[in-house]
Amino acid sequence: MKKKDLNFNYDPELYDLQVNWQTRLSKEKEFFKNIFLKRDIKTIIDIGCGTAHHLKLFAEILYDKFFLLNNVLSECEKINNDKIKKNFLDYLSNIKIIGIDPSQEAITYAKEKVIGNILSYEDVSYDKIYNKIILKVGSFENLESILLKNSINTGFDLITCLGNTLPILGTRRKVKIALKTIRKLLNKAGVAILQFLNFEPKIIEKERFYKPKIVKKDDAKYIFLKHFEYGKLKTRVDFLIIQMDRNDDVVNFYNNSSFLCTLRKNLFLKMAYNSGFKNVRLLGVGGDRDFNKNTDLSLFALLER
Ligand SMILES: C[S@@+](CC[C@H](N)C(=O)[O-])C[C@H]1O[C@@H](n2cnc3c(N)ncnc32)[C@H](O)[C@@H]1O
Repeated sequence: MKKKDLNFNYDPELYDLQVNWQTRLSKEKEFFKNIFLKRDIKTIIDIGCGTAHHLKLFAEILYDKFFLLNNVLSECEKINNDKIKKNFLDYLSNIKIIGIDPSQEAITYAKEKVIGNILSYEDVSYDKIYNKIILKVGSFENLESILLKNSINTGFDLITCLGNTLPILGTRRKVKIALKTIRKLLNKAGVAILQFLNFEPKIIEKERFYKPKIVKKDDAKYIFLKHFEYGKLKTRVDFLIIQMDRNDDVVNFYNNSSFLCTLRKNLFLKMAYNSGFKNVRLLGVGGDRDFNKNTDLSLFALLER
């Protein structure tokens, strides 16, 4: 997909400045951890992975899960016990963590800045969990051929599509095709997790202007503004970024808009069931209770075949 054709055209470095990943993932980690602990998840694909922070989180959860299940409580045991190391490498051999995004810039940035050069474990055998993360340029439109071309077997235990990637596809038709693709790629006992805005008009209206966010980096200051304009079929979101130098002079001004498919609860449920999913559960913002369309700003949808 050409850069000009992307419905979401955001510089990955600025995206990562705008999202406070530490805060976001600390809120989402418990939810994902519970999913991984309850299920046998070895193969994962995150579609529209952006800068790939969720894939890094999934690798870390899989890492922690191994030691929890094997009752390994001390760092010392991890490093010195050869049997545990061997079992860990066996465990790794079945793991596959794939990230797909149409933005070449996002994939390059993710490889270099987010996944690359992570050396957080004392023993090199444990760093291998990060080698399991494979990032490819691709989109819903060419997903199956990208997987085939890269000899990645389809059939995933967990498919994620997070942070509004689904509505960013823009039209109902594209969302329907995406849901069918997800269903096709999902293993029988697998789960798909989608995260997107609550498109109830009164919620969008209420949250129309996000509080401006100011972030300092090196000598620059960035002001991030987000504005929503509800539409029955498409909701417009404007991203404005003002970059200032140390004297507060404006040196850059970015203005991007995306058109989101207005995916209200009942429409989404209808589409999900029509795509062949048998079980669909909607959870509120933190994923720890049922979704309430009158109060939640966003939701997690859990879909099973
Ligand atoms: C708002 S970002 C979300 C990124 C990340 N998943 C997150 O939760 O922060 C939406 C992502 O969807 C990607 N995207 C846009 N069109 C797509 C398509 N047709 N197929 C797959 N991903 C797409 C964009 O490149 C972008 O990285």
